[in-house]
Order: sequence, then C-alpha cells, then structure tokens
Amino acid sequence: MDGLARLEYRGYDSAGVAVLGDGALRTEKRAGKLANLRQALEEQPISGDGAGIGHTRWATHGAPNDVNAHPHVDNDNRVAVVHNGIIENFAALRLELEEQGCKFASETDTEVAAHLLRTELARHDGLASAMRAVCRRLEGAFTLVATSVDDPGLVVAARRNSPLVVGRGEGENFLASDVAAFIAHTREAVELGQDQVVELRADSVTVTDYDGDPVDVREYHVDWDASAAEKGGYDYFMLKEIVEQPRAVADTLLGRVSVDGQLTLDEMRLSPEELRSVEKIVIIACGTSYHAGLIAKYAIEHWCRIPCEVEVASEFRYRDPILDQQTLVIAISQSGESMDTLMAVRYAREQRARVLAICNVNGSTIPRESDGVLYTHAGPEVGVAATKTFLTQLAACYLVGLYLAQVRGQKFGDEINAVIAQLATMPDQVERVLDTVEPVRELARSLADADTVLFLGRHVGYPVAMEGALKLKELAYMHAEAFAAGELKHGPIALIEDGLPVVVVVPSPRGRSVLHDKIVSNIQEVRARGARTIVIAEEGDESVRPYADVLIQIPAVPTLLQPIVSTIPTQVFACELALAKGNDVDQPRNLAKSVTVE
Ligand code: F6R
Repeated sequence: MDGLARLEYRGYDSAGVAVLGDGALRTEKRAGKLANLRQALEEQPISGDGAGIGHTRWATHGAPNDVNAHPHVDNDNRVAVVHNGIIENFAALRLELEEQGCKFASETDTEVAAHLLRTELARHDGLASAMRAVCRRLEGAFTLVATSVDDPGLVVAARRNSPLVVGRGEGENFLASDVAAFIAHTREAVELGQDQVVELRADSVTVTDYDGDPVDVREYHVDWDASAAEKGGYDYFMLKEIVEQPRAVADTLLGRVSVDGQLTLDEMRLSPEELRSVEKIVIIACGTSYHAGLIAKYAIEHWCRIPCEVEVASEFRYRDPILDQQTLVIAISQSGESMDTLMAVRYAREQRARVLAICNVNGSTIPRESDGVLYTHAGPEVGVAATKTFLTQLAACYLVGLYLAQVRGQKFGDEINAVIAQLATMPDQVERVLDTVEPVRELARSLADADTVLFLGRHVGYPVAMEGALKLKELAYMHAEAFAAGELKHGPIALIEDGLPVVVVVPSPRGRSVLHDKIVSNIQEVRARGARTIVIAEEGDESVRPYADVLIQIPAVPTLLQPIVSTIPTQVFACELALAKGNDVDQPRNLAKSVTVE
C-alpha cells in the first residue's frame, strides 16, 4: 500500500490489490483515491503469504468504478493482472474470448489479458511462458504484471511502450512503473527494455525477450532516497517542490565545466562532429516541457544561429515533418515516458535525425531510445503539476545551447563562460524570488472567485505566460489563456472587461528596449479597457508602476534567463489560488503525472 501511495501521482481514480496464499487469490478494489482502498482493507483485511500486486488507475477504457479498477482476474479466479497502457486490439480479442465462453466483468481492455493468460496457461509451462504468448497477441502499449495461484511466489511482468523497472533487494525483489514505489526498500534498480518479460521471485530476477531468449539488462543505482520523495513537513508535494527549485537548478548546473573552463556534457553521447553537422533543430515536447522548448528556441537561435522549430509532440509525426541526418531533434520530457513524445522520438529516428533527450528520470524510455541525453537533476517530482522539473529543463536547455555554440565555434570561450557565470547565479536569484512571494499568495486568495485570468508576454515572457495559464487551468480548474502581447489587438482584446485579471510578464528594460516599451503600451491598452493588471517586472523597472494594479518584482537577470525567475510567481499564484478553492494541488482532477497513452 505504501508503494502504491508513492505511485498514486500517476493515476488516482481507483486502486486495487491482489494477494496470493493458501492456494487462493484474494482481490480488493475501490473507486476513488487510494484512501478508499486503504479503508476497505482496514475494515476487511485480506492476507496471503505469496506474492502480491497492486495498481492505481487513470481510466482509459471504462469509467473509474470498483469493477473496472485493477487487478482483473480470469473466470476461475486463478490469474490476476494489472496493466498500464492501452491494448488496441482488445475489442477483437474480447469477441474471440466471449465466443470461447469467457464472461467479462468489466469494460476494460485489461481484462482480456487476464482471460488470455488463463487460456495460455493451460497450453504453456508456467506463467512466464504464457505471458510471452499473450504479449505476442497484443497490440498497443502495455505494462502487464500478473500472478497465478499455480505459483504463489512468482510475479511475471512484461512491457511494451510503457514503463517498468525492477528493484533488487536482499531476499526480496520489486517491480513498479517507477522506482519511487520501492525506494524505501532498495536503491538498486534494473532497467527493462522494450518487449521484455521479467520473472520475479524473492531471490531471483530473470529477464527474457518475448521469445524466451535471455537478454542483457542495465543495472543502476538510484541517486536519491526515500526522504526525497516525502512531503518533508509541507502539506503538499507541490509546495515543497516549488521551494526545492534553487537546489534543483544548482544540481542541474553542477559539474558541467571542466578544469580547463570548457563546458562538458558527459552524458550527451553525441560527438562534436555530429553536432557541427547539425543544420536544423526541432524541439518536441508536451505541456510544460513544450513551454521549456519554446524558451529554448530563443536562446539556441540567439547563441548558435541554428534554425530551431518547436512542436507539440502529439502533432509532430502526423504532419510529415522534414527531417534528415543534419536535423537534431531535442525531446524534452521530465518523466521520459510521455507516449506522445516517445512516439515522436521514434519517428524522428526512423527519419535518421539524431535525437537528444532532456529528461529527469534515469532509466526511463525516452533517454534510452535517444542518441544522447542530458539529465536534469531535479530529484523526484511527485506533484502532478511540473514545477522544479520545468526550471531544470530551462537550465538544461541553456546548457545545450551554450554547448552547441562552443563546439560549433559560434561564440568565444569567454562569452560562453560569462553566460555560465550568470547561470550559476540563478539558484540564488530563484531563492530571492521565493523569499518575496508572500504578496502573490494574498493576491491569489483574493482572486479565488475569478472566472478567467489572462496572461500576456513577449519574447521569452510569452512561453512563461503560457506556462502560467496552464498551471492555473490544471490546478484551479479555471479558464486561463495566454497571448503574445502583440497579438492582443488582433482579437483577444475583445475579451477584456471591467475587473478582468490580466497577468503581464514584462521583459527587462535592459534588453531590447523596444520590446519593453511595447509591452508597457499593451498594459495601458488593457487597463484602459477595465482590466486589473498584475505586472511581473524587474526590480527597478519604475516605468510599469503607474499601470500596474499589482506589481510583482523579480530580480534583474539577463533577458534570455528571465524565465527562470519570472515563472515562480505564476507557479505560486496558481498553487495558492487552487488551494483557496479547496483543490488538491498534488493530484488535480482528470490528470496523471506521466501520460503513457497517446
Ligand atoms: C503540467 C504538466 C504536463 C507535463 C506533460 C509532459 O504541469 O506537468 O503538462 O509537462 O504531460 O510531461 P513530460 O515532461 O513527463 O513528458
């Protein structure tokens, strides 16, 4: 149950467990959060001395109710299965199984796996062999974990396009979608590859492919411990993760410069020759990671003079993008498991583009399937809304931009070192912002009844505005939208009405002054039409003060790096407003931390 609690961020609309013992399989499942299952188990405990499996669900097929919750069992109650992903050919398989006399209890795609396993068990020697046979029949994405009364000390799991990791303990072994589930027991993990099956007993771990042939696996040590995945005195993980941002950014920047002053990205795996041949960059990502990509474009194009496109991963491969060996695709994903991004990565590699992943989770699928990787070091992020991973993605993107400029000779070493020195001060600047955000909390509480909040930005402030609007939507369930401030007069200004809160992210007046002046005009335009202006501007920027109903000051930093500080008030704003509405900011409705379906 504690392991499931650590995985609850991945899905939390229902949960269940199955345990084996005394020749029987006992299952308990409940709709709603894990607490409901916990209570049911307290009222009516189930026990067994064999293996156990459990699941927290994010519904795809079938409503989130008790019956559709996992585990699912076969008609003889001999096999139990939990599943992540989508079995795309489940309708045909269900029909076939029903014709053979199987009775389905749920509306899920998962249940076909339980019945199929039971059928294959009759034909094969053991659960692992049956699992391989089942996997060969399934289409789509899945991690399946199964147990059977025939062999109560065994758990068998298989994966295709969905995460699965093994934890190796002393006389005990674990399986989960994420190391967080077993980190309290062991930090030694084994990465499972695509289309592999694992047989797990208390004292052995055997990995094969779907044909039963043994395969090599990568073992690794998890460099954070259980306390990193605890709330540490905060009411919500999100509050803790916002506060952890200075450390997260500092850790991501750590150790990147060699003794001779050169930027070195050890895990990069792409050679300087390969990077010198790059003619175009395409960044692919989803949600918050996409916003990091939008910001990266400004920095990369400015520093490296390489054309850079940014695209939502779910759209990318459906528009026949132009890619070749000279294209560098940068896939940004904190989880390393977003199916949309993973599919885009695979597509890009098929087109012979080189792929560099920026990722926070060691051993996850996207970095494993990419040509190179740059890991962010945010530590585990449990709150569903991305906060510290976003800031570390920005830091990583800046490092990639500078590294490209270095290997391609587009900037002198001292110019690069100057930016690295500025980056190195960012953790302190983030700390300063965090020290001064109390008024933002008050402001957020005062706006708990607002219907809509608009966000405006220019240049790198535009993606920051988009990120601010996304946070508000997902946490406070309110309408929020971001516009490039210059676009306002082309339509959206019609939305402005008396008292409408408009958050404006103002670029530094020390950057391109024309940009700054233009946004000051935009602020005046919305204010003249009744908007309540909430202005995020650099300390010392007095020119905005007369037009700001609320002024939020952030430290003066170089223009391109400003998102690292300007994002924080928008995170705090969304979090506090959602809390004022009584929402659970760690587990907002309908969402999951890691979206492993397309
Ligand atoms: C928003 C959020 C999501 C993710 C998106 C991509 O707070 O967390 O929008 O950014 O689902 O996830 P990753 O980065 O894991 O690919």
